[in-house]
Amino acid sequence: MTSTWTEPANTPLALLLLGQGTDPASERGVDCPGDLPAPSDPDLVARATAAKAALGDRVFVLGHHYQRDEVIQFADVTGDSFKLAREAAARPDAEFIVFCGVHFMAESADILTTSAQKVVLPDLAAGCSMADMAVLGQVETAWDQFTDLGIEGDIVPVTYMNSSADIKGFVGRNGGVVCTSSNAKRALDWAFEQGQKVFFLPDQHLGRNTAVLEMGLTLDDCVLYDPHKPNGGLTAEQLRDAKMILWRGHCSVHGRFTVESVREVRERVPGVNVIVHPECRHEVVRAADQVGSTEYIIKALEAAPAGSAWAVGTELNLVRRMALEHPDKRIMFLDRAVCYCSTMNRIDLPHLVWALEELVAGRVPNQITVDPDTAKYARVALDQMLALP
Ligand code: 13P
Ligand code: SF4
Repeated sequence: MTSTWTEPANTPLALLLLGQGTDPASERGVDCPGDLPAPSDPDLVARATAAKAALGDRVFVLGHHYQRDEVIQFADVTGDSFKLAREAAARPDAEFIVFCGVHFMAESADILTTSAQKVVLPDLAAGCSMADMAVLGQVETAWDQFTDLGIEGDIVPVTYMNSSADIKGFVGRNGGVVCTSSNAKRALDWAFEQGQKVFFLPDQHLGRNTAVLEMGLTLDDCVLYDPHKPNGGLTAEQLRDAKMILWRGHCSVHGRFTVESVREVRERVPGVNVIVHPECRHEVVRAADQVGSTEYIIKALEAAPAGSAWAVGTELNLVRRMALEHPDKRIMFLDRAVCYCSTMNRIDLPHLVWALEELVAGRVPNQITVDPDTAKYARVALDQMLALP
């Protein structure tokens, strides 16, 4: 008996999950003008290949390590957020930069590329929950508080790449720098040469892990600023005494790993090496054997001897790909409950095909543009990062 597969219709549940149009701002990306191919279309790979070939050198596709395999196969370059920012800046001849990653990365690419270049994010719903945890108004309120206390002149703001362009703009306007997980120590070294304190946004874990494990600061030197509490939940004395004022933000993917996951895998796999991303909690990083950015993790796994066992605490697409690429090594996910980054995963092959075919047709879909004033100051903070020794 033969049966024909048909695309499932929208169910009331799916519509409920999408908000049924009640909050369009939170539903960005659910609507793609034109025809979004069906995931079941057997020609998706051929269509993406043909569209990319038709665009030739006019398009450059960047792929973050957390992207799906179906997407990463079309990336001209893959990398962590630092490498991708540099790659975007180094391609002035590409008319279109298609960013297979998340919104804050595409914003940074727009800031670092020329005004003639257009940056495209195949699905506008590919945001980042960590970046959303620092909103400009909240950060300005905190800064006003520091000003009232008379300590703002001692503070250098440092923001993780995983933040919106307007947070980067705030940091650039106030003499700070952007950092990524691969240069956080160098950024903090630089910041402590400019001032006595650092205001670190938005990832408390990267800030704490770098300060305590790489710079010799103590946990007591760090305070946690909670934007949802009056005065950040801190006394004037705590703010005056602190060396690191950490914003209360975190990654919902890396926040899942626990010391218990480390203990459990060590028990189950004798001799296992535990390697984690610095967005993991402090106690998890302490319990691990190695810590580093996605690029660092990839290099460590590539260099590892055959037969060695690795439990990796980062996003699942990357861990799965590394396990498939190195069948001679035992590479496994650190936690038993698998976890993808849901927003990274929004970029799938149908959205990539749609974006490329729109470009072929002469339309620029989902262009990411940062307003000139924000871009000007964000660029100051990004250029400062790119100039770090
Ligand atoms: P890196 O690419 O800097 O390692 O960051 C990981 C991440 O969470 C990106 O969203
Ligand atoms: Fe944001 Fe975490 Fe996803 Fe990276 S992995 S995009 S920090 S939610």
